[in-house]
Amino acid sequence: MARQFFVGGNLKMNPDTVAAKVALIKAINVADLDPTTELVISPPTIYLLPLKDILRKDAKIAAQNCYFKDSGAFTGEISPAQLADAEIPFVILGHSERRTLFHETSEIVATKTRAALDKGISVILCIGETLAQREAGETAKVNEAQLEPVIDLLKESDWSKIVVAYEPVWAIGTGKVATSQQAQDTQKDIRAFLSKAVSPAVAESTRIIYGGSVNGSNCKELAKLPDVDGFLVGGASLKPEFVDIVNSNK
Ligand code: G3H
Repeated sequence: MARQFFVGGNLKMNPDTVAAKVALIKAINVADLDPTTELVISPPTIYLLPLKDILRKDAKIAAQNCYFKDSGAFTGEISPAQLADAEIPFVILGHSERRTLFHETSEIVATKTRAALDKGISVILCIGETLAQREAGETAKVNEAQLEPVIDLLKESDWSKIVVAYEPVWAIGTGKVATSQQAQDTQKDIRAFLSKAVSPAVAESTRIIYGGSVNGSNCKELAKLPDVDGFLVGGASLKPEFVDIVNSNK
């Protein structure tokens, strides 16, 4: 069965006013969007509930992170149980900004993934190599090492609620998008690894999306690649061209 095209807009810690965020959602609400694309918008935590209320009903909202405990003395954190109670259906986990700036290991990301799935929340699971790792020929090894702890904690059936986001760190926010060849080759390798480490069925059905300097100009070419099932978009999700990215699979 064909994998449904998936586009996530990761607003990160932007824009910096409530009014700007509402304007962004209103623009998405009135846009003519390809109904075959699964669209997920991920605002900062404080805006999850109000933006969920005004977002068009054929799109979904995602948290940008969560902790792995249900409740307790964890100042500044939000739990999967709280996200589930607020009916937030998706969470982004393992983003390179979380791994790098907030020192999240692949084991922590795996524990968070398990905890989110246990509350029925789908996970956009980010992986990807640095420039030094790519230049050292370690791309596949790094992606596999980031996936392995997750694979260890998941049952085969859990994979229906995972979207893998391949985001080369060197392409994030740099304007330096991966070439079609790089994106296709790497994502094909990730799928082959899932086939070997989980099952051929999971490899075939799991969406593997690309993130890193995707914009209105490069999205069409990338969307055509057989192992690119959509995008996780940062900077361009704040701009009108985001509509073109959502519609890039048309
Ligand atoms: O989550 C999104 C990625 O970090 C990509 O960000 O589109 O600004 O490069 P970017």
